Amino acid sequence: MAHSIKTFKTINSEIYLGNDVFVLLNEYLFAYEKSKIFLLVDQNTLNSCASQLISHVKALEKAEIVEIESGEENKTIDICYQLWKTLADYNADRNALLINLGGGVISDMGGFVASTYKRGIDFINIPTTLLAQIDASVGGKVGVDLDGLKNMVGLFNEPKAVFIYPDFLKTLDKRQMLSGYAEALKHALILDKKYWNQLKKGMLSDSSFWLELISASIKIKNQIVLNDPTEKGERKKLNFGHTIGHAIETHYLSGDDLPLLHGEAIVIGMICEAYISTKVNGLSEEHLKEIAATFSKFYKLPILKMEEYHALLELMKNDKKNSKSNLNFTLLKEIGSATFNHPVETALIIDAFDFYNTIYS
Ligand SMILES: NC(=O)c1ccc[n+]([C@@H]2O[C@H](COP(=O)([O-])OP(=O)(O)OC[C@H]3O[C@@H](n4cnc5c(N)ncnc54)[C@H](O)[C@@H]3O)[C@@H](O)[C@H]2O)c1
Ligand SMILES: [Zn+2]
Repeated sequence: MAHSIKTFKTINSEIYLGNDVFVLLNEYLFAYEKSKIFLLVDQNTLNSCASQLISHVKALEKAEIVEIESGEENKTIDICYQLWKTLADYNADRNALLINLGGGVISDMGGFVASTYKRGIDFINIPTTLLAQIDASVGGKVGVDLDGLKNMVGLFNEPKAVFIYPDFLKTLDKRQMLSGYAEALKHALILDKKYWNQLKKGMLSDSSFWLELISASIKIKNQIVLNDPTEKGERKKLNFGHTIGHAIETHYLSGDDLPLLHGEAIVIGMICEAYISTKVNGLSEEHLKEIAATFSKFYKLPILKMEEYHALLELMKNDKKNSKSNLNFTLLKEIGSATFNHPVETALIIDAFDFYNTIYS
């Protein structure tokens, strides 16, 4: 059976990908036979994924299911407190295992809770959104938001293993799929022009392409993480679109407007940061046009109101990626190549917001 499973070696563990991964998971869980196993879900993954998983993985029949409410607004220390308490109430000892079944919110927060409970218990990820399968569950970043500020509290700690079952995506809605696709487009923009040329055609509706897409993106992300696990250098490339994107995501989480999904906020960030790249990093106008046209074809997004600009700039100054008063950007040189540690002036960021608005007006 194991022949139809793709394996990626990470720093200290493995990522398994394929529609047969449950066979492997079942064997893997033998090691935890005598320990308590917790399955962390939100209401959607409880409904759409948990019973399918448990029916294939006998070792999970006795697992304690721990459910939280879905949504980024729950990626908080308050929910962690409840989860730590739940583990303690069940007398979870240091041999316990936490399985994160869900999107990036579940893997970021579950990973953080496991990493800190009794100074760390084992956890594994079973990502169920495209975003989590290609990005959030790879690379060992775990954590929560603080007053809406993204990922302010957290650490680097890899899961013991990641099991990716692409067919979980069958119940995910189109908007969520596109949110994940944004990270794949980012992987292509920073490192792989050929991948970009493939992705810009739009392949999401074809489920036979999912495996290839997930595999290509994991390969890119995992290689970058292996080269620079703690983000001293090259890993910063993965932040393309995120300096502006995180500010937008936070702003829309706290405001009266409907929240944007992570990938949607990152798309706005990528368009703005591609514009900045033409001004200070030699990205050609032609590539900028191609990037903006591709994103605007896939994503329906709001324009940025002029009166919001100031609040967005303030949020960027709070971002942990920025040192002192400098806003630090990862910028494109061309499609498929990025450089990092670029300080950028406020005036240019404002021009970038204006440019974005011309694309979406
Ligand atoms: N750690 C990292 O390296 C990293 C990288 C990228 C993003 N992230 C984080 O990931 C988070 C976003 O992740 P996300 O987009 O997966 O969000 P999410 O976890 O909120 O999931 C999105 C929605 O889809 C639902 N869902 C999940 N799986 C489903 C399925 N199979 N069928 C139907 N519904 C399903 C969820 O309940 C939720 O409502 C953000 O907090 C972001 O900061 C982390
Ligand atoms: Zn992201």
